Amino acid sequence: LTPVIIALAFGYLLGSIPFGLLITRAAGLGDVRKIGSGNIGATNVLRTGNKKLAALTLLLDALKGTVAVLIAARWGLEPGIAAGIGAFLGHLFPAWLGFKGGKGVATYLGVLIAFAWQGALAFAAAWLAVAFLSRYSSLAALVAAVVSPVAFYLLGLPAYAAAVALMSVLVFIKHRANISRLLAGTESKIGAKG
Ligand code: G3P
Repeated sequence: LTPVIIALAFGYLLGSIPFGLLITRAAGLGDVRKIGSGNIGATNVLRTGNKKLAALTLLLDALKGTVAVLIAARWGLEPGIAAGIGAFLGHLFPAWLGFKGGKGVATYLGVLIAFAWQGALAFAAAWLAVAFLSRYSSLAALVAAVVSPVAFYLLGLPAYAAAVALMSVLVFIKHRANISRLLAGTESKIGAKG
């Protein structure tokens, strides 16, 4: 059990680095939590109008999930999965920000990349298709979060599928406000400012 707990804590520490907040602050754009949806993720960093910083946020938030899993997986399947869940939880509930973190979509993708690239590809394909058709980042994430656990299950990776399903439930919980806005027709589209 100990390696699993250490991996969970290690993943949490990596995942709790709020790259979107740090990057926008370093660029002199102020506190990203005060604009748009108030989220610290790439979608909201894009609302500052800076595409490069949004892309960098996406990259680093994903990478922390990938790196956490790849390092811990050297001790076995279970520590790898624990580190992935830890990184995801760290992004959602960072102690340094009073446990008020992001919605986890980029970190979720990063964890999936390390679990199995085919599953990550299913997530990315679903996200891109819905984002292209609807222009809603949140809706794309929600649909992709339903597709991903099914993809891992169909790939014959039930342990990963269970971990992915758990993360998907949290993605939905973290998108409560987005779901209300989507239903009310007031959700902002990708790239729209404010
Ligand atoms: O990745 C988060 C996205 O699904 C929604 O972000 O800022 O529009 O709430 P946001």
